[in-house]
Amino acid sequence: MVSRVIPVDPFDLVIFGGTGDLARRKILPGLYRRFWSGQMPPNARIIGASRKPLTDDEFREFVGTAIREFAIQGSGDGEQVDAFLRQIHYVAIDARGDNGWAKLRDLIRSDVVRAFYFSVGPGLFGDLAERLHRYKIADRQCRIVVEKPFGRDLKTARELNGTLSKYFDEAQIYRIDHYLGKETVQNLMAVRFGNILFEPLWNAQYVDHIQITVAETVGVGGRGAYYDKSGAMRDMVQNHLMQLLCLIAMEPPYCFEPDAVRDEKLKVIRALDPVPPEDIVRGQYAGSEGQASYRADAEDENSLTESFIAMKLHVSNWRWKGTPFYLRTGKRLKARTSEIAVVFKDPPHSIFGTQPDRRGNVLVIRLQPNEGMNMRVTIKEPGPGGMRLIEVPLDMSFAEALGAEAADVADAYERLIMDVIRGNQTLFMRGDEVEAAWAWTDPIIEGWTKTEDRPREYLPGSTGPEEALMLLYREGQRWRDIAP
Ligand SMILES: NC(=O)c1ccc[n+]([C@@H]2O[C@H](COP(=O)([O-])OP(=O)(O)OC[C@H]3O[C@@H](n4cnc5c(N)ncnc54)[C@H](OP(=O)(O)O)[C@@H]3O)[C@@H](O)[C@H]2O)c1
Repeated sequence: MVSRVIPVDPFDLVIFGGTGDLARRKILPGLYRRFWSGQMPPNARIIGASRKPLTDDEFREFVGTAIREFAIQGSGDGEQVDAFLRQIHYVAIDARGDNGWAKLRDLIRSDVVRAFYFSVGPGLFGDLAERLHRYKIADRQCRIVVEKPFGRDLKTARELNGTLSKYFDEAQIYRIDHYLGKETVQNLMAVRFGNILFEPLWNAQYVDHIQITVAETVGVGGRGAYYDKSGAMRDMVQNHLMQLLCLIAMEPPYCFEPDAVRDEKLKVIRALDPVPPEDIVRGQYAGSEGQASYRADAEDENSLTESFIAMKLHVSNWRWKGTPFYLRTGKRLKARTSEIAVVFKDPPHSIFGTQPDRRGNVLVIRLQPNEGMNMRVTIKEPGPGGMRLIEVPLDMSFAEALGAEAADVADAYERLIMDVIRGNQTLFMRGDEVEAAWAWTDPIIEGWTKTEDRPREYLPGSTGPEEALMLLYREGQRWRDIAP
């Protein structure tokens, strides 16, 4: 099955920070893949902008190298790459100075979609917004895309929202959370709201608990000093895990429109209970066999920042009262995997007697690797050995169900950038959502600071500190394995 690609309208996309790491690894290769697929029209243009004095050709060389390194192999040949590069331009610009802005204004067309991607540190968002306005480059029709982190607490997030709203309406601001761009995340909504099968069971009466795991094998490596000011709570939970939790827990929106979906997500964040300290486990990876410990990576032997966090949350509303949500994320863990598992309750009475190792129905939504879903169902073990029950997966991996071509799903960034061009904000965070998430996060972090809470050490390659296992054991449950 080949998916249909509808070209988007012609556009000028300016990437501030066009020579940076994110542009090189994600944004530019992603745009190339959209070009290769036929979604980016021939009269669209991409304009890189940063302080480095480069010519168009020098920037094209940079982009060509990025494509060859990071765009999926086999997508297009040399001619395709050359054709893409002809649509690339560059302007040397200083977000905090005056050089380059007049040239950018002359370059931008007024009769196409205009989008400005702020792929620079958040300290420059205000400068960019103000200069785009001052030089009359941006008007109330254009769009801006801002990267994470969106603030480091409620106060800074409010300040940032305040600064951007001086120059742009909320409908123009696209706050990226690339987890929302993943194919499976959207499929989660399709499965929940497009089938009658799941929705009647999607509540505290039938769901025992929900586990959300985002595990990485890498440490904080070269960005230790940056990460140490953030930690897993700010870097992962406040944004990515919170967004996944919202999509799982939200009520059906009245339609699939941006604000209808975002209203429902906001209600979930507002319904989150404060989390008592005994329901949170923080960890830091130890060093082992030539691998540096977290504290060595962070270059602070007394660091109290967490590289792992596990927590039990409650969403206090009619649907979820009594069903815990367990969130877990960390670095240097056993495998790189992201998944959501909806663990259903057992049937009220077993006509087959007790079967101690049975786990019942689990719906697993895998975000990486191998995006897809599977549902564990109980069947009879084949053979003449009597009525013994086993669980088998009903698998729905995109590769198997739809064929290899459809399984080659667009990377989250490419999908989200195309949504910006189409003007669809459904998969972007609204300002009030971000602020509500910080309002819930802040007291937890403040509690750690006040009590000088010390993260527990865990072994690299493990599933995190042992105390994290206890969060579920004490309820008679267990975490799913962190497996590739
Ligand atoms: N890298 C990732 O994987 C990743 C993931 C998620 C979010 N993000 C976020 O994305 C943003 C960019 O990250 P990055 O990793 O790409 O950073 P980076 O590699 O440090 O790149 C920063 C970019 O900003 C430009 N820049 C810096 N100061 C400037 C100024 N005064 N005027 C104009 N341009 C300026 C730099 O070019 P010049 O020095 O030539 O000006 C460079 O192109 C950050 O907000 C980051 O938190 C990054």
